[in-house]
Amino acid sequence: MSVATPWRAVIRGWGGYVPERVVTNDELARDMDTSDDWIRSRTGIRQRHVAAPGEFTSDLAVAAARPALARAGLTAADVDLIVCATSTPDHTFPATATAVQRKLGCPVGIAFDLQAVCAGFPYALTVADQFLRLGQARTALVIGAETFSRLMDWSDRGTSVLFGDGAGALVLAAEPATAEPAPRGVLASHLAADGRHYDDLYVDGGPSTTGTTGHLRMNGQEVYRHAVAALAASVTEVLRRAGLTLDEVAWIAPHQANKRILDAVAKRLGVAAERVLVTVDRHANTSAASIPLALDLAAADGRLRRGDLVVATAMGGGFTWGAVALRW
Ligand code: ACO
Repeated sequence: MSVATPWRAVIRGWGGYVPERVVTNDELARDMDTSDDWIRSRTGIRQRHVAAPGEFTSDLAVAAARPALARAGLTAADVDLIVCATSTPDHTFPATATAVQRKLGCPVGIAFDLQAVCAGFPYALTVADQFLRLGQARTALVIGAETFSRLMDWSDRGTSVLFGDGAGALVLAAEPATAEPAPRGVLASHLAADGRHYDDLYVDGGPSTTGTTGHLRMNGQEVYRHAVAALAASVTEVLRRAGLTLDEVAWIAPHQANKRILDAVAKRLGVAAERVLVTVDRHANTSAASIPLALDLAAADGRLRRGDLVVATAMGGGFTWGAVALRW
């Protein structure tokens, strides 16, 4: 539930970055019993980007944050809040957000990571929005950054073909919340988690259990079933909270797990496929990075314009899910 405050979080800049190296389905099929046809028909994925050795999640995050700050007409000196959504931090601690802070040269401020796996970006946007609306920060870098290629069990064709690396960032600034008829920025959010599904999508390692990083494990069919229902319900709920209707929405920006999930969500909502941003074909699933990467591409190619109403929605391990309604 939104509380009226003197401030509102407005989007001032955006950026995205994917590593140079592209791995096609055919390339995977050279070392694994899979095929371009299987991967495309089940997921819509054509290729994924993979970070270079020595290229870390914080490097991807910084590469996305720089153009976001430039577009906002701001510098690192202006940033007093960094929220980095990631499940693939550089190190177990400290937070990758503090590595970003150091690499960008931001002054002392608030910086922390947020772990909601593929739902990380709606969670991070919501948290940053609350800091800004409460006057606890003025300029936020909200980042989704991942190197999921490093969590893959490359002997498991059922999961390793699905993911890629990348990062996206938004710069949000606190601006006075005037009574405009169509306010910009974050308008409403809906977040949820259901730990009963902890084992349906997880990494089989961690500092407190095995002492190793581990590999991603997934009950794909359960994820699929839950994703379609949860994403559609979350979009409906966030629009109810924002007092808006689907007809007013220019773009649905869903987490990019799988084209079939995106199509099924659009169908369930009754939204034309043309109003759904799709990047899974070229990026595969970049977890918390997929939404800001999709926004970056749509803004860069002119589809997403100032004033457009967007609903970003995601679901991930936990299960966690949610949606944010925002005006670009
Ligand atoms: N290439 C070729 N064959 C494969 C591959 C592959 N990469 N992976 C699995 N198979 C085979 C299986 O071994 C199985 O063979 P079998 O019938 O001989 O045993 C067959 O394909 C069917 O396997 P299923 O796992 O039942 O395939 P399914 O139709 O469920 O598709 C998929 C798998 C694409 C993962 C599907 O379950 C799905 O889309 N799930 C959603 C999960 C998802 O997108 N997760 C992303 C992370 S979660 C998130 O971001 C929300």
